[in-house]
Amino acid sequence: MSEALRAVQPADMPEENTSEFAADVVGGLSGQPKRLSSKYFYDERGSLLFERICSLPEYYPTRTEVALLRTHAAEIACFMGSDALLVEFGAGALVKVDLILDAIAKPRAYVPVDISGDYLYARAARLLDRHPGLSVWPVVGDFTLPIKLPGSGRYRRAGFFPGSTIGNLEPPQAAGFLRNAAELLRGGGLLVGVDLVKDSVVLHAAYNDSAGVTEAFNKNLLVRANRELGANFHLPDFRHHAFYDPTHRRIEMHLVAGRSHTVSVMGRRIVFTEGETIHTENSYKYTVQGFVELAREAGCIVRRTWCDPQNLFSLHWLEC
Ligand code: AVJ
Repeated sequence: MSEALRAVQPADMPEENTSEFAADVVGGLSGQPKRLSSKYFYDERGSLLFERICSLPEYYPTRTEVALLRTHAAEIACFMGSDALLVEFGAGALVKVDLILDAIAKPRAYVPVDISGDYLYARAARLLDRHPGLSVWPVVGDFTLPIKLPGSGRYRRAGFFPGSTIGNLEPPQAAGFLRNAAELLRGGGLLVGVDLVKDSVVLHAAYNDSAGVTEAFNKNLLVRANRELGANFHLPDFRHHAFYDPTHRRIEMHLVAGRSHTVSVMGRRIVFTEGETIHTENSYKYTVQGFVELAREAGCIVRRTWCDPQNLFSLHWLEC
């Protein structure tokens, strides 16, 4: 590992991670309705499937947000300031940050936070190839939990939370996340990408792509449980179901059992009736006004909002 790439936390503790996953899967499948947390999508395979989703023709959020970042990079860089510690929450492939790094004169360091450890380190090394001289300090962890930042606290901090990842949190959790982030970034600010409420046909297509990548991404939870927990989910027994619920303003993703059957997970028998679902993800959509109010509840002020001409997606600069 090079000097610039500093491992901040011990590389994953696989056993501990597995037992957390095991407890959450057993717990989530024992209740009614059955659930699995969307954070478990992102093992190495799931992170790669998500990258493929981002370039699907039906999946408008990524390309729309990237265009917004490109168009407004200079203004965003002004808000962030140079020499700030740039913290990205749920950093994924570390692609979008490139657009900001090119515009900011030079951040003190870039701190990507992500739960997918090996993937994070691989991507961090690749980022360094493109930005020699940049300091990259990856933090492996769940961005919804309190984070300890590396380095001293003397630097101004700028947060980056793109991709409408905030939409995967229930609104009270989203407000909680913003409150924690505000505390971490105090005196600085946070750039948040938020998917907008729109025509349900457009939303439906984005989560039901014709190539079946979203289906594979959804089913990856079962693939992962089979591999890591020795479960025996039979994939053809489940179908992908994603729909927009206008009341909650959210896309719900489910895995629906096609027949009644029993699955064994960690020595437990999990009974499925025909048509029973596992709720795997919520993806909340906001109006600009709704998001501004959420931010205010969390004690943040939205200084600036950028939207694309079709109002598909929004970026917000929050002062904390
Ligand atoms: C990672 C939260 C932005 O909710 O759109 C993509 C995840 N799920 N297709 C989203 C996802 C199904 C995605 N985010």
